[in-house]
Amino acid sequence: AWAQVSDTFGFAPVAPVERTVDAFTVPDGFDWHPIIRWGDPVVAGAPAFDLDDQSAEAQEQQFGYNNDYLAILPQGDGTALLVANHEYTNENLMVPGFVDEESLTVEQLRTSIAAHGMSVVQVERRGDDPRWYPVASPFGRRFSALSTRFRLTGPVVGHELVRTSTNPRGTSVIGTLNNCAGGHTPWGTVLSGEENVDQYFRGDPAAADPRNNEMYGLVGDDGEAGTGRYWWKVDPRFDMAQEPNEFNRFGWVVEIDPTDPSSVPLKHTALGRFKHEGATVAVAADRRLVVYMGDDQANQHLYKFVSKGKLGGSLRNGSFLLQQGDLYVARFSAEGDPAADYDGTGEWIPLTKGGRSMVPGMSLEEVLVFTRLAAAAVGATPMDRPEDVERSPVNGKVYMACTNSSSRQAPGVANPRSKNRWGHVVEITEAGDDAGATTFTWALPLVCGDPTDPSTYFAGYPADQVSPISCPDNVTFDSAGGLWISTDGQPGSIGLNDALHYVPVDGPERGHVQQFLAVPTGAETCGPWVDVEDGSVFVAVQHPGETEGAAVDVPTSTFPYDGSSSRTPRPSVVQVYRTTAGAMPQG
Ligand code: FEO
Ligand code: CA
Ligand code: CA
Ligand code: CA
Repeated sequence: AWAQVSDTFGFAPVAPVERTVDAFTVPDGFDWHPIIRWGDPVVAGAPAFDLDDQSAEAQEQQFGYNNDYLAILPQGDGTALLVANHEYTNENLMVPGFVDEESLTVEQLRTSIAAHGMSVVQVERRGDDPRWYPVASPFGRRFSALSTRFRLTGPVVGHELVRTSTNPRGTSVIGTLNNCAGGHTPWGTVLSGEENVDQYFRGDPAAADPRNNEMYGLVGDDGEAGTGRYWWKVDPRFDMAQEPNEFNRFGWVVEIDPTDPSSVPLKHTALGRFKHEGATVAVAADRRLVVYMGDDQANQHLYKFVSKGKLGGSLRNGSFLLQQGDLYVARFSAEGDPAADYDGTGEWIPLTKGGRSMVPGMSLEEVLVFTRLAAAAVGATPMDRPEDVERSPVNGKVYMACTNSSSRQAPGVANPRSKNRWGHVVEITEAGDDAGATTFTWALPLVCGDPTDPSTYFAGYPADQVSPISCPDNVTFDSAGGLWISTDGQPGSIGLNDALHYVPVDGPERGHVQQFLAVPTGAETCGPWVDVEDGSVFVAVQHPGETEGAAVDVPTSTFPYDGSSSRTPRPSVVQVYRTTAGAMPQG
């Protein structure tokens, strides 16, 4: 079996890789290359990586930890801008002599905070070499959780819910946190979702807003205050007892402009606040901007934002479109038994419209800050952890990865399995193929898992001819409309290293899942970026070696195996490129 993605991109699927294997696995005819690694210089003049001499000052100039979202934006002159999210940190793999989080020094904590955020780095090609390399340039920039100021935009600006002692006007925020997936805009900027931001704050049952406790589980079921990640030792804003509103300033979609190193990054409150997996952009038939967004927690929801204004002909300077518009949440319907009904209809229910709240008893600002409560109030459909959601540029359908949900007690509409270990993919067809529509139909092209299990489904494609796939997370498309799905959780669910899979969604090959690569033990596959014309697939290898008992000097992975990291793995952005020109695999 082999895939013909386009005339320039075929491959023979790789065999599933056991979860203990410390290797980066690619198909025959391809090789791979780490473009940039944790600790590599980003800002011109940054110090070289030194595991034994990390500091917050160095880290703020170097590539952060745990790269997730990835964009490679060509600049038209043989260079490109690489943009990556840095979702979180693994101190046991970062700090020599690590004991536990509570024992970290203030400087070590500050270094961890600095390792969160985003990076922009210019990359270039050299002669006939197919590989991309980072270059020191004025575009090199770190957005860190330690020091970068973000400006708030939209209806919540200045509201009392976002005022703090250090920003009494409620207009700006230091840092971005837990940046997971994202998207890019027609005007050249990058959007990034702030996801599991609760972990950084020490909850206080007395001081914390009960609406946040309910929304994010800031306070445990036992009603006790959490410890957070001890960041409050560095900065009191991470202690809810001291700064109860700081938490409300995280959980947004942020926007950065990689092409303008002096630009001020933004947090867009019109898009709502929840555990944003990502944010991907489409354009409605009438040129309004549409942003699809998943909220990655069990029984949370799928959203879309539709701008008030319309995209101009030049496709430039569209950032204002993200500051005013309507926020919708999805309700799925089906007629039959939800365990067996793999298609149905749905509607987008407005939470905000024309600058007003559509939720009884909640103000506009409350809907945007406590969006989960608003969604539940209007009867949105609880989903099995909505991760990445993205519209195909070729067939116009929208694909959402529901990664898994151990907490689902019974099959629900568009979520057919209780104790959903393996996840599924939802395909949404907007009415009239218009991203601005308020109704849709839906189907489940993939119900993931071990293909020998009768509960799996691959759009009718023979199960004995597909690659095993579990816990779909990020989705992207190649220029021919092929869907690429990266996974997060295969090791714990089907015993395999996480992977990147290719699956056609149209034609006779619909449902034919084929594994393209596998990441090393402990890692998840993130940020797939497929450039057929470039002949390259780019992935972010996140948390390699994140396995039980792993530590600096006792690693279970030494990825990327280039001699730079024999003592600990380094999360890296990897380019997979073709080594055999012309001839495609056959048969
Ligand atoms: Fe950060 Fe939902 O993955
Ligand atoms: Ca993810
Ligand atoms: Ca994506
Ligand atoms: Ca995930």
